Amino acid sequence: MRRRLVAGNWKMNGSMASAAMVDEIAALSRDCDVLICPPFTLIAGLSGRGIPLGGQDCHTEAQGAHTGDISAEMLRDAGAVAVIVGHSERRTDHGETDALVAAKALAAWRAGLLAIVCIGETEAERDAGRTLEVIGTQLAGSVPDGATPARLVVAYEPVWAIGTGRTPTSDQIVEVHGFIRRTLAERFGKDAAEGIRLLYGGSVKPGNAAEIFALADVDGALVGGASLAAADFAPIIAAAG
Ligand code: PGA
Repeated sequence: MRRRLVAGNWKMNGSMASAAMVDEIAALSRDCDVLICPPFTLIAGLSGRGIPLGGQDCHTEAQGAHTGDISAEMLRDAGAVAVIVGHSERRTDHGETDALVAAKALAAWRAGLLAIVCIGETEAERDAGRTLEVIGTQLAGSVPDGATPARLVVAYEPVWAIGTGRTPTSDQIVEVHGFIRRTLAERFGKDAAEGIRLLYGGSVKPGNAAEIFALADVDGALVGGASLAAADFAPIIAAAG
């Protein structure tokens, strides 16, 4: 019942030359949703090529005196249908708190965008046995009231797995995704929780995608490095269906 989603997070990479890669991805036959989140500067230029686009962040307000920031409404205006909020690199580089992430998710909804809310433990938190506690706190604080399958996706991205080539074991992913699903059910009801897609993110590659997609409560992936070239991204999409 949940259609898989493979979302590419280009981070601070890419240029208009990447349009060729987007065209290659758009030409693939697939049975899953695909989304590419390029830098802000590329959204308008890459829109209309057959692949839905998302932003990597947004401000909480619609407009105003916030030099260097981009609003959810601006993303929508440029052609985006989604936005990533609370990525661990935003939390670390820009000190984003759960409360700010929740406000950004609300801004996304205000603008009619799908919010992809990212959560994940650090290696020290996992080593201390605190993973589920941390995930529970982030989920409670970063996801606003009113979540529905149409406007929320949750991405579980262990900080220690991002860009490192390391991934959790299958059991670890299943444990966290199951916990997220149960926690969402307690708060938003079983029907909503059963429809909300949960992505795994962190060193997803062509070689491990099929195994990860087969896990319970994994509804797709948020892919960083391997979303930058069609040769890597296409087999991940193929593994999703
Ligand atoms: P990675 O990044 O696939 O390069 O590990 C994932 C992410 O940060 O979204």
